[in-house]
Amino acid sequence: MYRSHTCGALRMQDVNQQVTLAGWVQTIRKFGAITFIDLRDRYGITQLLLGEELNSQLTDQPLGREYVLQATGKVTERSNKNSQIDTGDIEVAVTSFTILNKSAVPPFTIQDDTDGGDDIRMKYRFLDLRRNAVKKNLELRYAVNRSARNYLHQQGFMDIETPFLIKSTPEGARDFVVPSRMNAGQFYALPQSPQTFKQLLMVSGYDRYYQIVKCFRDEDLRADRQPEFTQIDCEMAFVEQEDILQMFEQLIKQIFKDVKQIDYSDLVERISWEEAMWTYGNDKPDIRFNMKLANYKFPLHTFPEKKETLSNSLLSSGATGFAVFDQAETIIGFAAAGCSEYTRKQIDELTEWVKRPQIGMQGMVYIKCNLDGTFKSSVDKFFGEESLQKIAAATGAQPGDLVLVLAGKEEKTRKAASELRLEMGKRLGLRKENEFKLLWVLDFPLFEYAEEENRWVARHHPFTAPKPDHIAVMIDNDPEIKDAAKYLEHPYAGIKANAYDMVLNGNEIGGGSIRIFQRPLQEKMFAALGMTEAEALHKFGFLLGAFEYGAPPHGGIAFGFDRLCSILGGSESIRDFIAFPKNNSGRDVMLDAPGTIDQHQLDELHIQLNKE
Ligand code: AMO
Repeated sequence: MYRSHTCGALRMQDVNQQVTLAGWVQTIRKFGAITFIDLRDRYGITQLLLGEELNSQLTDQPLGREYVLQATGKVTERSNKNSQIDTGDIEVAVTSFTILNKSAVPPFTIQDDTDGGDDIRMKYRFLDLRRNAVKKNLELRYAVNRSARNYLHQQGFMDIETPFLIKSTPEGARDFVVPSRMNAGQFYALPQSPQTFKQLLMVSGYDRYYQIVKCFRDEDLRADRQPEFTQIDCEMAFVEQEDILQMFEQLIKQIFKDVKQIDYSDLVERISWEEAMWTYGNDKPDIRFNMKLANYKFPLHTFPEKKETLSNSLLSSGATGFAVFDQAETIIGFAAAGCSEYTRKQIDELTEWVKRPQIGMQGMVYIKCNLDGTFKSSVDKFFGEESLQKIAAATGAQPGDLVLVLAGKEEKTRKAASELRLEMGKRLGLRKENEFKLLWVLDFPLFEYAEEENRWVARHHPFTAPKPDHIAVMIDNDPEIKDAAKYLEHPYAGIKANAYDMVLNGNEIGGGSIRIFQRPLQEKMFAALGMTEAEALHKFGFLLGAFEYGAPPHGGIAFGFDRLCSILGGSESIRDFIAFPKNNSGRDVMLDAPGTIDQHQLDELHIQLNKE
């Protein structure tokens, strides 16, 4: 053994013990004839004291930062104690040392506040990983992993691995593909998730499956998206939606308890997708704060079931004389509590904020609800006191609040209102890092229109079952739902899915559904997505076939493991919680991957590159 203790182990009770430590040199401080060295390893830092007799040895063999050192000596009480570190009461009076390896000068300092920029730290990620800040994140990741495994094991779930080299069935994101040497001209795809495998495992009778598993998606990257990421992927047989919700909110609560020592005893709130869109403007609302949206005017076709609420606002009744409102498809407002005293400058700045290209609004209307009960607004010219009062009242505004109103095209305005709500929540300090609020979003639409592809797609995935009372529509074309669907252009557009997302502090941390388990309904679903029978068989024949051999009712969910870790760790970026992440262009800058391959490799794979 190179060491008797780690650099984080020694305390006062070890004084007078003879010990050997091994680790990396963090700092070297010379005081006349003596030298202090902070020796670091994964567990902590211990101060070494090298007296006069060892100094000549140091002259012959100079030490530098990040040298790997083994030191033997006696534990002694420190005269100058350091309460900042666990080992701060003691030091080791070194009697002999060995340099196990030298180090080049590191390109950035290995400490909490490093001077290294993002790129350089990623290039030398193996050094970055030595830093406490990063280590703490990986420790948290491991704690979440352990907690999830323990809980799922106790609940009778079995970890079963599924293959990475599978068949390409582009649906949702783009696939990463792998050429096959043994099958000229053919490609595997890397799984976007083990979705169909876990369903097949249900058919095989493994009624509680889980896997903490890598998934691969070739999509544009953001702070919370990586091309390869990890899911806590789960599936259960003989369950209904309620069983899944109970089982997995308990999983997350257990993780809170094990990892953050938080007793999340509150009921996990539930909201329908439609309600979420109405009251928060998006399907992953941050409910740590209220600030609900008021919808003054909306296009009928978007939310057919809410059309009766049209009457609750004066704006719906007709023209107001204010062209921005009259010509808008949608008008949405909300009240920012206690902001009625915002200055002209602050309001102008907010207006600029909504005009930024990322938000893309033309402008913003405000109504100050003064403490004396009067109103001051940017649209005083068009609306009298009574109208302003009504517009404000719809948001629930109190005296002292500032009502912000956006108007324009439906989707853009709703998104902008949602972003502005989050921004105001942030500015008002309502999105507290240490507060955790879970939410189930339920009753998603089964289908959605994909603008870029100009076609209808499955909102979750094509294996998701419709709500039980909507199944008849797909099988028998029930007239009632067809009526609801007439607002849209798809015959099944009004159908709701038996799908659910779990949202934590405004982030989608998991999603799943009850699955289709009967061949005729699955065939209907593929057909509704525009697949011919032959295409469906070519892509998913294995699944349709399996459904012929006694498939049980089943459902499941997958949690974004990296996302869950980053939220628990209080960071926006999942990269901080991945040992070797990719950058925003999908590159591993340390490996310099992706890279080119030899002509010989290309030939073996039967691949000819396009000259450009
Ligand atoms: P879904 O596609 O919703 O469901 O993914 C589940 C969860 O995985 C996380 N996630 C990501 N995290 C990091 N980078 C990405 N690129 C990324 N994409 C998704 C999200 C998301 O909620 N097979 C289904 C699950 C099921 O139906 O059981 C699925 O993959 O947190």
